[in-house]
Amino acid sequence: MATNGASVNGSKPHKYNPTFTQSVINATGPKATPRVRQLTASLIQHLHDFARENELTVDEWMLGVELMNEAGRMSDDKRNEGQLLCDVLGLESLVDEITYKLASDAIDEPTATAILGPFYRHNAPKLPMGACIVAEETNKQGDRTWMHGTITDFTTGKPIEGVVIDVWHTAPNGLYEQQDPDQPEMNLRGTFTTGKDGKYDFYCLRPVPYPIPYDGPAGKVLQALDRHPYRPAHIHFLLKAPGYKPIVTQIFDRNSKYIEDDAVFAVKDSLLVDFKPFQGDSQADFELPYDFKMASFEQAQKHGVVGSTEQSGA
Ligand code: DHB
Ligand code: FE
Repeated sequence: MATNGASVNGSKPHKYNPTFTQSVINATGPKATPRVRQLTASLIQHLHDFARENELTVDEWMLGVELMNEAGRMSDDKRNEGQLLCDVLGLESLVDEITYKLASDAIDEPTATAILGPFYRHNAPKLPMGACIVAEETNKQGDRTWMHGTITDFTTGKPIEGVVIDVWHTAPNGLYEQQDPDQPEMNLRGTFTTGKDGKYDFYCLRPVPYPIPYDGPAGKVLQALDRHPYRPAHIHFLLKAPGYKPIVTQIFDRNSKYIEDDAVFAVKDSLLVDFKPFQGDSQADFELPYDFKMASFEQAQKHGVVGSTEQSGA
């Protein structure tokens, strides 16, 4: 490769127009906000460096454009293909880590976060503690589970009142309710609110591993990369409480297939759980105890969580 070009902004020497990238960055006008200016300049720099370093051809670039266009055409309120594409490339998991990681000086840690994924739905049914989120027909097909625990403040250890727990998971056929015309609306979803004791409990199913939708661009990427589309069995949570940093997370069945090999790179050790065989409850075959620990906005800020002053979650 010829190396007669200048190195601009730390990029490697190259044979292409040495001032081109800077001129594109400089086209940003004075009214752009500082954050937009910073992110765009960096994005342009990385995109241009990527194209030069790999000698990206017009045909290859157009393939990428088509992939994004196809993702856009496929997406609606039940399918988020752009997010899926990011997820198979690990971007949502990385951004999740950047957004929520505490500075390493924290004594204890709040519950680890994990990606929201594309199947969250607003307005899941509000249910009383101890209710079942599984429709009757679905309940006959799965491993019935009683999940319970306490939600505490991670610094004081005190229970938190008024936590809204939003939970969702797949049916035994591996599909979320909105992917499956045979499931009732809002099946396997619910919200629960803690009382003074910070305790919660509900009935769900032990989830199964399942493939992310692979009939679109994300599937094409997986195929090109010789990768499978499976996620280990998991249950999603979104926890919100007044004064506390919302928690978006998932818990994973420790014994599930693909636990070491999640197609979207979301598994963390502290989120592995054990489903225990359970006797004496006519509604459940397994018990799943799990406690959540939340950080107040004040604590989150003190420990350097990025965006810890945002008062809203997902
Ligand atoms: C993804 C995440 C999920 O939780 C899921 O069930 C399917 C896909 C994702 O990150 O793309
Ligand atoms: Fe999921």
